[in-house]
Amino acid sequence: MTRPGTLTALYPGSFDPVTLGHEDIARRTLRVADRVIVAVAAASTHAKTPAFPLEERLEMLREVFADEPRIECTSFEGLLVDFVRESGAGFVVRGLRAVSDFEYEFQMAQMNREMDPDMEFIFLTPDVNLAFLSASLVREVARLGGDVSPFVSPSVLKRLRATFGGRT
Ligand code: PNS
Repeated sequence: MTRPGTLTALYPGSFDPVTLGHEDIARRTLRVADRVIVAVAAASTHAKTPAFPLEERLEMLREVFADEPRIECTSFEGLLVDFVRESGAGFVVRGLRAVSDFEYEFQMAQMNREMDPDMEFIFLTPDVNLAFLSASLVREVARLGGDVSPFVSPSVLKRLRATFGGRT
């Protein structure tokens, strides 16, 4: 429920799993919005089988942001445009790490804008020390037995260890 005068940002993604990079973007968003809804999409543009089921991805997000009452975590089915309207968010936020992210983000933003001309996007850059980080690299390193402790929160690390074992 959004109170009148409250600016809400919606941060959608796959969060498979949530990394310190995602955390940084969500917390940074509180500098430009009163509250943030972090939303795991059931349908991702990347046609891939997730490492973690939707419910577990959501649980990880809730654990990671348990300390921040202005961040709410949820999931949604279907189109992002519909969920943005339903949630009452003023804008969608996405992280931009490098030029290589731009094409994909621009394409998605434009497609969404075609479906809803009122939809606004804000792109935030992460801390420079996290700019190389992606959930897919974390998954790969974890799967191959590498140490991913510098890239995820302790609660996420526990889940990665349970899923992939190894030195993770
Ligand atoms: O973390 P990701 O995988 O880059 O996030 C992509 C995501 C989930 C934001 C995108 O796939 C999405 O919006 N999915 C919801 C379904 C939808 O609206 N698809 C059309 C996008 S133009």
